[in-house]
Amino acid sequence: MSDEPDAMRFRAAMSRFPTGVVLLTQGGPNTLEAMTANSFASVSLQPPLILISVRSDSRMRARMDACTTFAIQILHEGQRHLAACFARHQRPGGAQAADVLEAVPTPLGNVIVASAIAVLECMLFARHAGGDHVIYIGRVACIHMSPDERLPLTFHRGEFTVPLSRLTIKSPHEEMRVNGISKAASALFEVGSARSASPDYRLP
Ligand SMILES: Cc1cc2nc3c(=O)[nH]c(=O)nc-3n(C[C@H](O)[C@H](O)[C@H](O)COP(=O)(O)O)c2cc1C
Repeated sequence: MSDEPDAMRFRAAMSRFPTGVVLLTQGGPNTLEAMTANSFASVSLQPPLILISVRSDSRMRARMDACTTFAIQILHEGQRHLAACFARHQRPGGAQAADVLEAVPTPLGNVIVASAIAVLECMLFARHAGGDHVIYIGRVACIHMSPDERLPLTFHRGEFTVPLSRLTIKSPHEEMRVNGISKAASALFEVGSARSASPDYRLP
């Protein structure tokens, strides 16, 4: 018998990991395809690379396979309705989607949701098989950032959520002090932070 966890259990475990929520968009004003996603992550600083994983049998997959450019919009707390709308199979497409999103064209050939917290316009860099998803790596070509200080929209335990506050303990070092974490761990952090002061942050 296989020890592999079933899909429900895997999904339940992953749902405990809070993520941001993005809208993946591809196409121009009349051909726009937009999809809600949370499998977005940064990959590399130099060159600036991101990844997003798209279900193999989704409409977006065909688009991504044929595209040279796409955009990622990081959504804010007030854009939950857009996230919900573009997570549906019967979501708007083409000019109707551009209308709903109040999307604006860019010189790179994308249409973007300028009201998002940040928008990354990407050139398709690589594509990898990932089980029932395809992982697309994009090279960030242009960044737009809204001056809006709104909180990000997040997804946790199957629900859209918003971080309670922006307050954090000032540094991991401070946290160790507050939580009484051992001197040994604290010393380890000092070594780590000294290393991370260098431009190459990788540990040996
Ligand atoms: C919060 C959230 C995150 C999602 N993340 C992804 C994702 O990363 N990749 C993906 O393919 N679908 C993701 N989905 C599902 C899609 O938004 C959408 O429902 C589905 O893939 C569309 O398939 P279709 O093109 O066949 O309609 C997510 C849905 C929600 C609500």
